[in-house]
Amino acid sequence: MNLFAGLEDIVRQDVPLSEHTWFKLGGPARYFVEPRNEEELLDVVQRCHESGIEMYVLGRGSNLLVADEGIDGVVIRLSHDEFSKIEFEGEVVRARSGADLSFVIRECARNGLSGMECLAGIPGTIGGAVKINAGGRFGDIGNVAQSVKLMDSSGYRFERKRHDIFFGYRMTNIMAKFILEAEFSLVPDDPDQIGKMIKEVWMLKKNTQPMKSRNAGCIFKNPRALSAGALIDKAGLKGTNVGGARISRTHANFIIAEDGSTATDVLKLIELVRERVRQRFDVELELEVEIWQ
Ligand code: EPU
Repeated sequence: MNLFAGLEDIVRQDVPLSEHTWFKLGGPARYFVEPRNEEELLDVVQRCHESGIEMYVLGRGSNLLVADEGIDGVVIRLSHDEFSKIEFEGEVVRARSGADLSFVIRECARNGLSGMECLAGIPGTIGGAVKINAGGRFGDIGNVAQSVKLMDSSGYRFERKRHDIFFGYRMTNIMAKFILEAEFSLVPDDPDQIGKMIKEVWMLKKNTQPMKSRNAGCIFKNPRALSAGALIDKAGLKGTNVGGARISRTHANFIIAEDGSTATDVLKLIELVRERVRQRFDVELELEVEIWQ
């Protein structure tokens, strides 16, 4: 553990990542680090940078598939309170990247600030949500993001304002390894009205998506003007399985990890779906879920 000498309090070895993903799948991380503050994070990042070991940033693991072999690198999770703070200043909310997205949405509603409710029901952290411009039918987080504080993989910290950031469909041009904080500009509204909207967005998800199972949300991005779920459904794949990984019967763009499944099952099922959709519709499905392998 020479690499992290003196940091034993925050570094663990061979930690099963299955405990940290919604799929509950995946092998161990060689190192698993939970810094307690930004200076410790900087220390860890600089050591990794100097040694050349690969870093992986873990949020809530809600959009992530980790291979059964695990990760031969350093998984960093910004789970401590220091990385979860949120504060309000007028119509602006500033959230540290480890803050829980659902919590931020609720706090905004409580403070009578509208703009985040379109994200109701999306699990994850603020950092994860900003990085992939999380969203759905009612809008995405890029609509309200004003600036982000970042740290790159050498430990250099900088800020990017809205006009420098491109928020696309489930992607951004943020290349820095770590999102430290994001600022959102919201609009005052009646808390009850915002609460109602949150409920509506959430109910729609509940009625159309398999929310109670082990899954990682939508597996594929929607191809331009098409729905990946509808294509997979039309290809007759609902309920199809490889081992314990099964295409949801509720929404075909979800893969459910049933008891006894492995990440390899999920990966094979992903390939099977791609192949069938390619053959049937001549459409190349692009992954929405992040895969570490
Ligand atoms: N459809 C089917 N069969 C299915 C699933 C869907 O025919 O098995 C049809 C639906 O009937 C509908 C169309 O496909 O006509 C679109 O489906 P839906 O309204 O469920 O939306 P989606 O495009 O599949 C997107 C996001 C979701 C987000 C919802 C609601 C993507 C890939 N998915 O789903 O995001 O929750 O809109 O806002 O953009 C995620 O990002 O992980 C995710 C789940």
